[in-house]
Amino acid sequence: MLMPQVYIPEKVIPDDDSFTRLSAWLKKSPYTSYTILCDSNTRRHCLPVLLRRCVILKNCSIIEIPPGEANKTAEMAMKVCEALLLAQADRYSLIINLGGGVVTDLGGFCASIYKRGVDFIHLPTSVLAMADASIGGKNGVDLQNVRNVIGTFSTPNAVFVVPAFLKTLPVVEHKAGLAEIYKAALVADGNLWKALKRQNEIYDRNILKSIQIKQKIVKNDPFESGRRKVLNFGHSVAHALEGTALEHGASISHGEAVAAGMIMETHIAWQKKYITAKALEEISETLVNALQVPDITQYGPDDIIRFMANDKKNRGGEMLFALINGIGSCTYDIVVSKSELNKSIRHYNSLLKW
Ligand SMILES: NC(=O)c1ccc[n+]([C@@H]2O[C@H](COP(=O)([O-])OP(=O)(O)OC[C@H]3O[C@@H](n4cnc5c(N)ncnc54)[C@H](O)[C@@H]3O)[C@@H](O)[C@H]2O)c1
Repeated sequence: MLMPQVYIPEKVIPDDDSFTRLSAWLKKSPYTSYTILCDSNTRRHCLPVLLRRCVILKNCSIIEIPPGEANKTAEMAMKVCEALLLAQADRYSLIINLGGGVVTDLGGFCASIYKRGVDFIHLPTSVLAMADASIGGKNGVDLQNVRNVIGTFSTPNAVFVVPAFLKTLPVVEHKAGLAEIYKAALVADGNLWKALKRQNEIYDRNILKSIQIKQKIVKNDPFESGRRKVLNFGHSVAHALEGTALEHGASISHGEAVAAGMIMETHIAWQKKYITAKALEEISETLVNALQVPDITQYGPDDIIRFMANDKKNRGGEMLFALINGIGSCTYDIVVSKSELNKSIRHYNSLLKW
């Protein structure tokens, strides 16, 4: 699999650099038309800046979706494809995904199936999409509240990281993105973990580090047949929590769910004696203090476990997890029992004392 070029500016703000590079990239790529996919928030906050700074896009078509995970569905993908037809996008068109992880996952998926595949680039606008979702070529949509059940591996032609977009991102979404940066540290980089503990802030260098960690892992295992699975640390529980919440008419953001998932899966790692009690304490405390963690006391363990039955990582009815075996080190394909999971849920709830 070819790795896309990820363009990251040297400085955060002002980052004229990013738009100059994007314009230059667009000018040298002969596309018949451009279609920008955004949600209503990124249309309002990011699109005007983009159109002002990249005049080459002035005649582009715009497809807007409502914001939020509830719209990352197969139905919405079909609507986007219909809109592409209406815009007469041909196989030589470029789709530009301007948004958070919902837009990049959905837009990448539509681009990979529309007319059997058209070129696309990501312009991530949330911390989570910059540090994680826009990297690695996984695209997809949810089905019946189960995360990313329908999807493709298809790599964007380029990813342009424009940190200036983050100026309008709500604070809660910054924390959501920080969760994935902590995940990258826990599975692969003990030094990044130490740096995050010291700063507890999002700096462009932490986003960059997270991108580099993911790029390196994906390069060696693009289709997740082995080591790439470590990037799912925290996500077995996270996806089940997101689905359970939606089923109850509530919502837990992906970042919040990943924060809770990492705490519970760290506890499972401790139960299995992969990490010490001291490490469990350090990780749990750090994540609770640094991240937005959700109250899940209203959901029964059985609800959460039922959602896990459909997790893509499972094999023949067994729940397979990626579990850390140290800070900055992770293993995968580990069978986890319902009783271990139950204990981890109890640990999580006791830690937060809602
Ligand atoms: N493909 C992958 O490898 C991968 C990895 C991690 C997560 N994901 C997916 O990413 C999604 C979560 O991404 P997310 O947290 O970015 O969610 P999101 O796309 O829903 O964005 C969060 C919120 O922030 C708003 N927003 C985004 N950028 C903004 C900006 N610059 N200014 C103002 N508002 C802005 C959005 O409209 C939305 O309301 C999930 O669907 C998850 O499955 C995919």
